[in-house]
Amino acid sequence: MFENPLFLKSVYSLKDLPKEKFPAAVLCGRSNVGKSSLINSLFRRKGLAKTSSSPGKTRSINYYKIDNRFFIVDLPGYGYARTSFEEREFWGRLIKEYLSSVKNIRLALHIIDSRIGPTELDMQLYSFLNSLKTKFIIILSKADKLKKSEEKTSVEKVRVKIPGLILNQNIFFYSAAKGNGRNELLRLLGELFY
Ligand code: GTP
Ligand code: MG
Repeated sequence: MFENPLFLKSVYSLKDLPKEKFPAAVLCGRSNVGKSSLINSLFRRKGLAKTSSSPGKTRSINYYKIDNRFFIVDLPGYGYARTSFEEREFWGRLIKEYLSSVKNIRLALHIIDSRIGPTELDMQLYSFLNSLKTKFIIILSKADKLKKSEEKTSVEKVRVKIPGLILNQNIFFYSAAKGNGRNELLRLLGELFY
């Protein structure tokens, strides 16, 4: 399980999606929340996904093929303020078109920075996923930066805005730096794809 993660391709247009029809888990969320880092830490492959301390690193839809049975898809982060309005519109549209047209999305992982909580853009993504009836979980990223005493507030901030969340069922803490949440997430993906 999870032994053979491969970078498959970068996609800039929906015409170029992979031909293989594997089920997919899709990582989405604001720019710089740690989507690409999550992929590297999950599979313990540094450099599998490109990461950067400056937001806006991932500009394409990046496909990873795992054990020749499912895809992990890294979406560009949305809402990065320093890109131009036109560019933000372009990525926003690409992400929406992607999520609404691709049929094999088994799970969306909506990554939210555990210290920041859901922003307006996160609520837009949530509403959008909800309207599509896409099954999703929330990942509270960068959990290593939270003090123990801040964890409860971090979950509550999301729970007041998004109903039905239960810790370690559909909302998880994750730290790419320390490995928190890794086992839980692998277990969930194992149940879904193996
Ligand atoms: P875009 O590609 O711009 O959408 O960003 P992204 O969501 O893919 O974020 P990325 O993985 O590139 O990480 C952004 C920054 O956050 C980098 O400086 C990472 O080192 C840092 N980071 C990611 N995950 C963690 C984490 O678990 N803990 C800490 N402390 N830093 C993290
Ligand atoms: Mg990225």
